[in-house]
Amino acid sequence: MDSGDGYEVKDLSLADQGRKNLDWAESQMGALLKVRERFEQEKPLEGMRIGVALHPTKETGALVRTLRAGGAELAVCACNPLSTQDDVAAALADEGVNIWAYKGETRDDYYRYLTNVCESEPNYTLDDGCDLVSEIHNNHSHLVDSIVAGAEETTTGIIRLRAMEEDNALKYPMMAVNDLKTKHLFDNYLGTGQSTIDGILRASSILFAGKNVAVAGYGPCGSGIAVRAEGMGANVIVTEVEPIRALQAVTDGYRVMPMNDAVREADVIITVTGGKHVINKEHFSAMKDGAILANSGHFDIEIDLAGLEDVATKKETIRTAFDRYTLPSGKHVYVCGEGRLVNLAAAEGHPSIVMAQSFCGQALAAEYAVKHKDELKVGVNEIPEEIDTHIAELQLEALGVQKDTLTTEQREYLSSWQEGT
Ligand code: ADE
Repeated sequence: MDSGDGYEVKDLSLADQGRKNLDWAESQMGALLKVRERFEQEKPLEGMRIGVALHPTKETGALVRTLRAGGAELAVCACNPLSTQDDVAAALADEGVNIWAYKGETRDDYYRYLTNVCESEPNYTLDDGCDLVSEIHNNHSHLVDSIVAGAEETTTGIIRLRAMEEDNALKYPMMAVNDLKTKHLFDNYLGTGQSTIDGILRASSILFAGKNVAVAGYGPCGSGIAVRAEGMGANVIVTEVEPIRALQAVTDGYRVMPMNDAVREADVIITVTGGKHVINKEHFSAMKDGAILANSGHFDIEIDLAGLEDVATKKETIRTAFDRYTLPSGKHVYVCGEGRLVNLAAAEGHPSIVMAQSFCGQALAAEYAVKHKDELKVGVNEIPEEIDTHIAELQLEALGVQKDTLTTEQREYLSSWQEGT
């Protein structure tokens, strides 16, 4: 697998299929292509060496091409051992991208590839989950002085970065791409909502209608999953720890209960909390026979799989990304995608059109960071609202949708206080 040539992918002969998938993704990523067109002319990323730890999917491939069009050199690895699309990785390697990634990579390879990215001496980092930033701070700290900034794609990564900032451990500026409205209000809600169910269905092939589906966590991702599951005819149960979110779930029409109760009723349990051991060792024996478990949170620690392996008498992989555990009682519990992000481990992640918005955020955040590097604080930086608005406009244009604009009279009215009843 090691080509010794600046890449390590599963099989370079998959490149042709990868290019087809990339082109198909790009056909739905018009907003990002608009950014690419401008980048090709203006080359705003000239001189940038971008270290990338993202899910190497066809959509990420479209971002990679866009950043390169802007003049950047890239070194790419995965941010999850199961999320690489091998054909896409092959196509990118074939296009001359330094990429080290394959689906199912070992933990050793995962960290070796992160090291390869660090050794490319990036002056900008692009992360989904903060493993690259963490690796740089822990083991390659000599790089931090030459790093202009980095960007973080996901909620879990932002939480880790804020914890680093709090501890005075974060040593270079980070752009909170996840916090753009055009990212989290769409990617987390629509993207995770659809792709999580896609992953569970590809793994298990079950019918959702009539099932009791428990969703743990009612943030933007969990609420997206709940509404899609409901739309497919499931009876949705929500578990939460945060009172306002629990109340939202109740008023959205779902039953809210503790996980200890939910495990007794659920046919499918989906964790998406960002927390740890939301399904713990004690829960397994209380589950219904045939319960299906899936995780859509960033890390594979929401379901206590070590605990399950401990109590189970047998584990068999019965389909791709679908393991059956036998408990001492004879009951079975099924786990999708080894408890890793089910939408990427068992399916293809969020649809391209959703990722177009998220990745416009990445491309434009990189451009902004380079232009404004002297104004960024060492810590987590919010991205200006104008960029958010611009992304929405690009996406509306790509969709061929026109919207209204305020008349002068309306604008004056909205900024005045004199007019009343
Ligand atoms: N995260 C979720 N879905 C994704 C996708 N399709 N590509 C890259 N990152 C993702």
